Amino acid sequence: MKNLLVELGHRSYPIYIGSGLLNQPELYAQHINSKQVVIITNETIAPLYLDTILKQLGSHIVEEVILPDGEQYKTLEYVTKIFDQLLAKKFSRNSTLIALGGGVIGDMGGFAAACYQRGIAFIQIPTTLLAQVDSSVGGKTGVNHPLGKNMIGAFYQPQCVIADASVLDTLDNRQLSAGLAEVIKYGLIRDIEFFEWLEHNIDALLRRDKKALAYAIEKSCLNKAQIVSEDENETGIRATLNLGHTFGHAIETGSGYGTYLHGEAVAIGTCQAADLSRRKGWLTDQDVNRIISLFIKCHLPIHPPKNLDSNRFLELMAVDKKNIDGQIRLILLKKLGEATLPTNVDKALLIETLDTYGRS
Ligand code: NAD
Ligand code: GLY
Repeated sequence: MKNLLVELGHRSYPIYIGSGLLNQPELYAQHINSKQVVIITNETIAPLYLDTILKQLGSHIVEEVILPDGEQYKTLEYVTKIFDQLLAKKFSRNSTLIALGGGVIGDMGGFAAACYQRGIAFIQIPTTLLAQVDSSVGGKTGVNHPLGKNMIGAFYQPQCVIADASVLDTLDNRQLSAGLAEVIKYGLIRDIEFFEWLEHNIDALLRRDKKALAYAIEKSCLNKAQIVSEDENETGIRATLNLGHTFGHAIETGSGYGTYLHGEAVAIGTCQAADLSRRKGWLTDQDVNRIISLFIKCHLPIHPPKNLDSNRFLELMAVDKKNIDGQIRLILLKKLGEATLPTNVDKALLIETLDTYGRS
């Protein structure tokens, strides 16, 4: 087992990475200081992994909240259902919440933990590649709003993250690929050696080679832990984790939540950000082609949906947490392995990308 640390002073916490971790009761015991424990999960994950977790929590009073599966349920309405159940069962402020699932469950569970009685302890048990390499680490929690992705939320850190790579065995290939989009992001924004490693090892990752997956998860978490330790509340470098996300969130909101997987929308958005970086003179054609071919090898989409024209994109991109005074700000690439901080972009250049990249 690898044990990384997100260093945040007295709120520092470990990320445990390994295989078979769900079956290790001592991992839970170290981080649960309450009798009452609530597990938030969904209808797909519950039959696969809930019993395993319940077995480790024998001496606790455990409540299960099983939500419907899907990005379209990442809403205040469904977080309220968590509160309803906790209040009905008289869960106290010292309770512990376990979020068992992908990024949707992690974001919702974390947000419920941040709000319930002004904050209860929580543990992230991410079960998708995307959640293991990104969403479970760093304390961004929240839900979507019909007008914008992740627009309601809180920064709220977990007690620990338990990333058990063996649960990825039941994940389908489309979800695995979506997770790889966020893995590739770390290489692009700050780690050219990792990007090159990904170029050489993408086939191994796609055939789920255990050693390659373990390395990719560890490298991603290491990068994320360093960024979060440096800039927890995203006043600077943390924003670079949003490479491709402003375009991507517009695609998710504009297409209806759940149409594109988050990682798929991020892959398209990253190609658009790369195209814009090329128009700025920062990336070469060859750089952009390297990015696009890596996404293609991952079977990820690379073209924006036809029904979102540049006007609709601009309207959707105007609702983004990086914007200041209504001005769209984007993360672009200065070169492969180096992202800019949020940058005001020349609107004409942005429209060129929106109108031409992937439109022929
Ligand atoms: P997801 O949570 O919807 O999970 C994908 C699908 O896989 C679901 O159907 C789920 O039930 C299923 N699943 C999960 N684990 C499984 C397993 N082990 N075996 C079989 N099926 C399994 O999607 P996701 O890609 O994990 O997360 C996307 C969400 O994460 C988005 O809402 C995005 O906004 C959010 N996100 C948050 C952050 C953050 O920093 N908080 C970062 C990136 C993404
Ligand atoms: N996934 C972006 C962040 O955690 O900041």
